[in-house]
Amino acid sequence: MKQILGIVASQRQLGNCEIMVKEVSRQLPVPHHLQLLRLPDFNLRYCNGCYRCLSKGACVLADDLLTILAAIAAADALILAAPTYFLGGHACLKAFVDRGISFYAMADRLWGKPAVGVGVAGIESKEGSTLLDIERFLLTIQASNQMSRIVYGALPGEVVMSEGNKRIAGELARALFGEAMLRPQPCCPLCGGDTVRFLENGQVRCMLCSNTGELVDGPDGLTLKISKDDHAFVTDQNAALQHRDWLQGMLARYREQKHALKEIQAVYKDESPWIKPSGPLVNS
Ligand SMILES: Cc1cc2nc3c(=O)[nH]c(=O)nc-3n(C[C@H](O)[C@H](O)[C@H](O)COP(=O)(O)O)c2cc1C
Repeated sequence: MKQILGIVASQRQLGNCEIMVKEVSRQLPVPHHLQLLRLPDFNLRYCNGCYRCLSKGACVLADDLLTILAAIAAADALILAAPTYFLGGHACLKAFVDRGISFYAMADRLWGKPAVGVGVAGIESKEGSTLLDIERFLLTIQASNQMSRIVYGALPGEVVMSEGNKRIAGELARALFGEAMLRPQPCCPLCGGDTVRFLENGQVRCMLCSNTGELVDGPDGLTLKISKDDHAFVTDQNAALQHRDWLQGMLARYREQKHALKEIQAVYKDESPWIKPSGPLVNS
């Protein structure tokens, strides 16, 4: 019996993301138990950039990060669904991946877990960066992105009024423990990403793995030729661990240069007044 964790990145109960996770689970061709986690319900603080997770092996912020990571680590596979909010995935995805430096300490329990992702947008063609945000989430938690797709549906539940969306749920279900679904070209040969930035020198950069190359118009149509640079950090486990080691090196560099850096900071310290937040607010 496989243990599946469904991560719902929407606050809307019985909304489209929750229903898509459950629909993928219904069509999963293996015996399993589905447990659900509504990401925005958890108390997740912003990363404060202290890097103490590097020296201490765990994040020092008191919140629910470890509860979520433990649930991910305990699962055999993941189904993630996130809504599009203003042309990108829900902010809880980014809040979570920003804590990603502390995930390295659990790499042995996280790496390579099969996962599928689905982004739900209310308006056809207005998903913006949602698919990229979902895939970045999966790569940052060191999962194996078996297949990720965008579906459309606005009103809560509407997503499964479409037979096409149900079919996509079935494809995601079969991909979870099957062969990773290759995207049609052009996509990044290193990570499968389908979003690039056009650079001034005519090259393109994959926005998922950050490696650079060219968009080539050949006999088989457009293809991306991308090669791994010397600081790739999401393409394979070695690259991820090398990035962790690079961060450790930065920590050593910071310790060496601390006094010079403090002198620079002191020059800018009392420059201008700050607007401060008001006290805690209570929702009605
Ligand atoms: C604040 C907000 C912003 C949204 N922005 C977009 C958008 O940029 N593009 C889009 O296609 N849909 C947008 N939507 C629609 C949702 O993506 C859509 O209703 C989706 O089904 C919500 O999933 P849920 O039911 O799981 O919450 C937005 C919805 C909200 C509440």
